[in-house]
Amino acid sequence: MTIDFEALRRRFPVLQRKTYLNSGSYCALGDTVREAFDAYMDDRLAVGANWDVWVMKNEAVRAAMAQVLRVTADEIAVTASASAGINALASAFDFSGPRNKVIVSDFEFPTNAQIWHAQERRGAQVVHVPVAADGYIPLENFARLIDERTRLVAVTQVCFRNGARLDIAGIARLAHARGARMMVDCYQAIGALTVDARALGVDFAVGGMLKYLLGTAGIGFLYVRSDLIPELVPGNSGWFAQQNITAMDITANRPSLSARRFEAGTPPVVNCYAAEAGLKIILETGTDAIETRVRALTRRCLDGLAAIGWPAVTPADDARRGPMVAVPSRDAAGLFGRLLQEDIVTSFRDNNIRATVHFYNSAADIDRFVAAMDAHRGQFGPRA
Ligand SMILES: Cc1ncc(COP(=O)(O)O)c(C=O)c1O
Repeated sequence: MTIDFEALRRRFPVLQRKTYLNSGSYCALGDTVREAFDAYMDDRLAVGANWDVWVMKNEAVRAAMAQVLRVTADEIAVTASASAGINALASAFDFSGPRNKVIVSDFEFPTNAQIWHAQERRGAQVVHVPVAADGYIPLENFARLIDERTRLVAVTQVCFRNGARLDIAGIARLAHARGARMMVDCYQAIGALTVDARALGVDFAVGGMLKYLLGTAGIGFLYVRSDLIPELVPGNSGWFAQQNITAMDITANRPSLSARRFEAGTPPVVNCYAAEAGLKIILETGTDAIETRVRALTRRCLDGLAAIGWPAVTPADDARRGPMVAVPSRDAAGLFGRLLQEDIVTSFRDNNIRATVHFYNSAADIDRFVAAMDAHRGQFGPRA
């Protein structure tokens, strides 16, 4: 089946006004996602409180998220953010014994280092895997630091600064060979790449739904492999994390038998409406087809930038990059502003302009970005 990407593109109105290369920060708003927000408002006006429907929405998000990760719904907690998922998971680990190390990498988004450092007062020892001289983190660097004292390896799949993609399956094998668990923060990948939790061999996966999953801020997920759920009792809890949500029992904590035990309070109802609609677009389009298109577009971008003599810092190897192309600049903030004035929406971190690509982008978007970079080269050339 061939996918009509041009027709899909028309469902995201901002793309008619802007060259939108910013999905790694916040996705373009899709037509059915907007309609979902409206449907929530209509519900509020028509019925006031519609709890039966709203609870079902939370379950619909759980089921769709499970399909995206190719796991079962019982293995998914619907959380308020990626941070909420990591915190809930962290609260279930005991760091008081000799196996107290948590391995993170120097590619982490802050939250996935800060939360593990916050466990130091509970006995955790956080170890950072350093970047190699070529700017990548090869498996050998993980192999050197993961040992029999490691409880968890918690690493990002795609680095938010430079777009480099780590070998998650390889890292998971190393972790398991030494008796450690493996968590991936797949926020900068999921929706733009196929993230098959079982094929990657991870025990846990976290992310949120405002980027490549096409939803909104205020909703995320935590995947927990089913056989690990019984042994992980979170210290964080709440009534929506209980076995029986309506029991209203204040005498005990009885965590759900599913990954719902990692949730807490009232679900983010309006966000569930939007997230369900966003996930539906991803599932209907298919992550394999999306990944193929995103890979071709990022390749075109890398080649175009190389041709104008302003190469990206993102790895050229297809296996080592995700949906982001990061371009070094002497003045990334200034360049970001110039591009914005020209209706080219990017973002910047450190010294890099970040062009983040989704299936709704086109070759013309990429060419426009590269041409604009070429025009600005004299003023904003790469650092010496
Ligand atoms: C890789 C990665 N992890 C985590 C986060 C933060 O997620 P949240 O704000 O949902 O906790 C982000 C946000 O940009 C991210 O890019």
